[in-house]
Amino acid sequence: MNVPSSSQRPRILTGDTPTGRLHIGHWVGSLENRVRLQDDYACFFLLANMHAFTTRADRPDDIRRDTLEIAKDRLAAGIDPERSTLVLETEIPAIAELSWYFAMLLPFNRVMRNPTLKTEIEVKDLGDRYSFGFPLYAVGQCADILAFRPDLVPVGEDQVAHIEMCREVARRFNWTYTKVAPEMADDDHLAHGGVFGIPKALVGRVGRLPGTDGKNKMSKSLGNVIFLTDSTKEIKRKLAQIYTGRQSMTEPGDITNALFTYVRAFIKDPAKVAELEDRYARGDEIGDGHVKADIATALEETLAPMRERRAALDGPAGDARVLEILRAHTDRANAVAEETLYLAKTAMRLDFGLRDLRMRP
Ligand code: TRP
Repeated sequence: MNVPSSSQRPRILTGDTPTGRLHIGHWVGSLENRVRLQDDYACFFLLANMHAFTTRADRPDDIRRDTLEIAKDRLAAGIDPERSTLVLETEIPAIAELSWYFAMLLPFNRVMRNPTLKTEIEVKDLGDRYSFGFPLYAVGQCADILAFRPDLVPVGEDQVAHIEMCREVARRFNWTYTKVAPEMADDDHLAHGGVFGIPKALVGRVGRLPGTDGKNKMSKSLGNVIFLTDSTKEIKRKLAQIYTGRQSMTEPGDITNALFTYVRAFIKDPAKVAELEDRYARGDEIGDGHVKADIATALEETLAPMRERRAALDGPAGDARVLEILRAHTDRANAVAEETLYLAKTAMRLDFGLRDLRMRP
C-alpha cells in the first residue's frame, strides 16, 4: 500500500489555543524551546482554533483574528516556515476523526478528573454551564498530538496533565488494537508493532511565569500580561505595576517574588543575576525600580527583533502572506496526519482505502 512517506527526523508537536496574542509567559514556557528545537526536529506547531470554539463558539470573528495573530507572533518569534509546519487544526480532518476513536478509549470520569480541565472550569468560572464540547477538547488534544506521532511535546507546566492523558490513550490504543502490553517501556511500543509511540512532555525553562499582578500565572484573561508585541513604553509601564510590598532600598528583599522570577527568566548573564539576587536579598541600596529597569533592558533585547519581524507581517499584505503559508503548511500537515489516520484505521479494521486531501484558496 502506498502510504505517503514523511521525514525521518524525530518529530515535535505542540500548540496554542488562539485566545489572543502571545506573551512573554508563552516565550519562556514553550516558544523559546520551539525556536531552538527546530534545528534538530521536524516541528509541527498547532493553531488549536477548533479548541477555541469549545469556550467561544459565539465569537468566530475573534477566533479567526486570534488565529492569524498567533501565526504572525510565531513567525516573528523565529519559527521558520521553511523548516517548521504551522498546523491549522480545523483543516486537519484526521484530528477530528481520531478524537472520536480516542473518546472511546477513555472512561468519561477519567476525562473529568483531568486536573487541568478542573482548574480551567474554576478559573474561567464555568460552573456546570460548560458545553458538552468543552471537556471533549482534552480528548481532542490527545488527537492533536498523536496525529503527528511526535517524540516530544514541549509545553508549559499546566499542560502536563494533558500530555499524561495522551500517553495513556496511546498505550490503550496500542493494547486494544495491536496487543502491545500497556506495561511496555515507552520507547519499545513501535518496535513491538504499536501504532503510536509514547510521546514525552518537555517543560520550558520557566514552567510558570507570574503575571504583572505579581501573583497569578500570566494569562490574557487576567489582564496581567506583557505581549511579545508590546512597545518599550508599554513594557516599562506594565513592569512598574508589579508590586512587591517592599518599602525601601535597604529592606532585605524576597528573591522568590515575581520580580525575581522575571530576573532569572529574562536576564541572560548569570553573574548579573547572581549580583542582583545578592544585593536585593541583603537590601544593599537597590530599589525595585532598579531591578525593573534591568528587566526592561533584558526584555528589550529579546523582543526588539521580534517587533521588527512582526511589523513586516502587519496589514493586508501580511495577512495574505500568512494565509499562503497556512495553506501550504496544511498540505504538509495533512500528509503526516493522514498517514497516521490510515495506520490507526488499519489497526482498527477500518482499512477501506486511501484518500487525498489538497488545500485550494
Ligand atoms: N491546550 C493548549 C493550551 O491551552 C493548547 C493545545 C491544544 C496544545 N492542542 C495541543 C498544546 C497539543 C500541546 C499539544 O495551551
